[in-house]
Amino acid sequence: CGIVGYIGKSPAPSILINGLKRLEYRGYDSAGLAIIEDDKIVVAKSPGKVASLQERARADWPTERFKTSSTGIAHTRWATHGPPTEVNAHPHLDQSGGIALVHNGIIENYRALRARLESKGHTFHSETDTEVLSHLIGENDKGNLFQAVCDALHQVEGTFGIAVISANEPGKIITARRGSPIVIGVGDGETIVASDASAIISHTRQVIYLEDNDIAIVTANDVEIRDLDQVPVTREVAELGFDSDAAEKGGYEHFMLKEIHEQPESLANAIRGRLDFNLGTSVLSGMGTSARDLSEIQRVVFLGCGTSLHAGLVGEYAFEDLADIHAEVQQAAEFRYRNPIISRSDLVVAISQSGETADTLAAVREANQKGAFVMGLCNVVGSTIARETGRGIYLHAGPEISVASTKAFTCQVAVMLMMALKLGRGRRFSREEGLKLAREIERIPELVERTIQQSDKIEKIAARYAEHEHAFFIGRGYLYPVALEGALKLKEISYIHAEGYHAAELKHGPIALLQKGTPVIALANDIAGKDKTLGNVEECRARGARILGVITEGDKEAAEFMDDFIEVPACHPLVATIPTAVALQLLSYHIARARGCEIDQPRNLAKSVTVE
Ligand code: G6P
Repeated sequence: CGIVGYIGKSPAPSILINGLKRLEYRGYDSAGLAIIEDDKIVVAKSPGKVASLQERARADWPTERFKTSSTGIAHTRWATHGPPTEVNAHPHLDQSGGIALVHNGIIENYRALRARLESKGHTFHSETDTEVLSHLIGENDKGNLFQAVCDALHQVEGTFGIAVISANEPGKIITARRGSPIVIGVGDGETIVASDASAIISHTRQVIYLEDNDIAIVTANDVEIRDLDQVPVTREVAELGFDSDAAEKGGYEHFMLKEIHEQPESLANAIRGRLDFNLGTSVLSGMGTSARDLSEIQRVVFLGCGTSLHAGLVGEYAFEDLADIHAEVQQAAEFRYRNPIISRSDLVVAISQSGETADTLAAVREANQKGAFVMGLCNVVGSTIARETGRGIYLHAGPEISVASTKAFTCQVAVMLMMALKLGRGRRFSREEGLKLAREIERIPELVERTIQQSDKIEKIAARYAEHEHAFFIGRGYLYPVALEGALKLKEISYIHAEGYHAAELKHGPIALLQKGTPVIALANDIAGKDKTLGNVEECRARGARILGVITEGDKEAAEFMDDFIEVPACHPLVATIPTAVALQLLSYHIARARGCEIDQPRNLAKSVTVE
């Protein structure tokens, strides 16, 4: 979900709506805003996207209202408690209607709180945990909103990033966080509160990141931060680095297509300055500089969700093959609910594009508690995971707006290859071998560029697969995680039911589903295991499947097995995971586009899920 709040010299409604549009990638089931007008709270809400909210407010509100109010809060929602209806949309009001609240996170004890408030005569209109919190604040308000929010937050269990306004105190916004990010943009005579900096960047680059259990009194000219016990705390003002153009489509039909095309550049940024052609290694100061520290690492554990989890699976192969280190991937969501066997000699790598995913953050905290050496692999600078791990490597992929991740994935893999190279050089690689791999990593942007050049050809192939409702992606070895990621991409944006399988596993069950014409996308690059994969392709063909192969450029033998094929340039087998993933991104994109899907904001999804 996304939060934005504004207080300052300009009319709030349009600033809030534009801010919400920037945050829409965090959820777009419903949206709403509340402003203060003539000492009253006025609310507009709508199911669906921010554009529907904008239409609703334009239709229902007098034009004057868009010009006068300069204080307000707004929210775009990814439904957790209750369906995405208008009544469940934020902001939520307290019993009196004089206090409005927007909230990210989950109030875990909301049922008990709700029962207690109902017994005192409170009436609730929605099914949300947020409405309970707004009533709780109202119940505690004895004329001082800040005090009321503090008192209410002492009673809640769970996570929150909130912004609150009160008709009785029109000159302020109270904002607080625990587990769900809040950034405050400090402008000239105006202050913007948001769940992330993309809603702030067009106003100011000066930002303050709240820490957990911080609560701030925000006015147009001042930000005062305390802890929940009201002890003042100091938080630095940081400068935002990226510029707002990066968040525009730049002539592409969709952000996803733009981000696919940006990969040669984003990969070059991820790699730049990080390869050492003298020593045949990589320079990643974020991993810790002491060779002794690194040589003590006995095991690497990757944590992540979704696409980042798939990147971790590639990392697992890379670390074992290149660095002789036992490596494993764990689903971040499982990590703290099982008994993770972690010791001080373990390197735990939290992979997260946004750096805000609640499941991954919870796993980071667990790993920290167990004394592991924890580092982050994040794209968003200053994100919670990046800050809590305290050490790590930024991807430098640039802002990723499309919900389906593309350039973050390939940069994650590229960075992990460089990490494995560094550890490998400390353990088994000679300088010569290190140099060879470094040169292959250096080629990645060019390999990806050549793959993207086939976009038109892939579009034509996609047209032949767009009508199907099921698809299988198969691969083995390094390409197995890429098959999983290819299937995820397709289902996310085209709503085709797609399954990624190890090529050998298909015959142990899923092959029962193959019928005449069922698409099987076979990753049959010319790397170890290719012959076996081609054998599996034959098994599928024998059952009438239609085979789309991804093969190495010029591999005539493999092409023979396929009904259609996409070629990727020959390269180091681990490096091949990257152009292969890019070919599958383009395939999914063109299939989804042929089906008329929305692509950048698929139904039910959010780019960054900040609840467990
Ligand atoms: C969400 C997104 C996925 C993403 C996952 C992890 O579910 O829809 O595309 O892979 O979160 O996100 P992260 O920011 O932690 O990489």
